[in-house]
Amino acid sequence: MKILAIIGSLRKKNTYETVKKIEEYHKKYSDFQYEYLFLKDIKLDLCKGCHVCILHGEEKCPLKDDRDLIINKIESSDGVIFASPNYVMNVPWIMKNYIDRFAYTMHRPKYFNQYFMILITSGSYMGTKQASKALSLMASGGNIVSKLNLFNSPGMNEKKAMKQEKLIKREAELFYKKLSNKVKHKPSFGFLAWFSAFKAASNENKTYLPADYSFFKDKNYFINIKLTLLQKLIVSFFTNFFTILIKKGFI
Ligand SMILES: Cc1cc2nc3c(=O)[nH]c(=O)nc-3n(C[C@H](O)[C@H](O)[C@H](O)COP(=O)(O)O)c2cc1C
Repeated sequence: MKILAIIGSLRKKNTYETVKKIEEYHKKYSDFQYEYLFLKDIKLDLCKGCHVCILHGEEKCPLKDDRDLIINKIESSDGVIFASPNYVMNVPWIMKNYIDRFAYTMHRPKYFNQYFMILITSGSYMGTKQASKALSLMASGGNIVSKLNLFNSPGMNEKKAMKQEKLIKREAELFYKKLSNKVKHKPSFGFLAWFSAFKAASNENKTYLPADYSFFKDKNYFINIKLTLLQKLIVSFFTNFFTILIKKGFI
């Protein structure tokens, strides 16, 4: 199993050390191969906010850097750990830039074959949930099997430190178990509603959202998968529902 750890910390300390601990647990059980990708060490230029990736397609992004290399690494991995410190109740700028550079995957999700762990380290628990929520969006269609919010204060007492070690071990085991028994993507209600909303929006805004329109126009779902009758009915209902809301100007 290939695991890619994408580290959004500006230094190699708490966040990196926590991922190393998870790797150590995995080494005990299996032959998981870890690769570390430090955002601080690669060329991922600052998002210019031009909207080109969202509206016209990611291939038209004016920035020429390592973005596609990251995509290839994610797509050739079985599991991905997104790991970041918490900075003022969110992720630091380097991880936020990652999120912004991949904003188009909110419209056109990608990683349906990958399993994800979202890891946030922090000085206190304040704001870890917000940071985790922001980072979770980057799983983009993938299966988030573990969310780990940790506390790294040097003043932490022994009892709390032990509790946290147990938590890291538990989540490492969970990630291992899920990855060892990978199941094919199942279109949940949330995914079906997500698909329907963007299908309706792109159909109603063909000229404004050409990349979305060409992505959705011939699709019955994000990926080529046979939907059940119930799932087809849900897509049909929500696509019509969102189309009405858009036409009436509610969204
Ligand atoms: C600029 C900055 C802002 C921070 N903001 C928060 C915060 O809002 N809440 C919190 O719990 N910890 C905060 N921290 C602490 C870090 O999240 C924590 O020490 C983290 O484990 C550092 O990870 P690292 O060693 O990988 O950089 C902040 C640290 C920095 C440098």
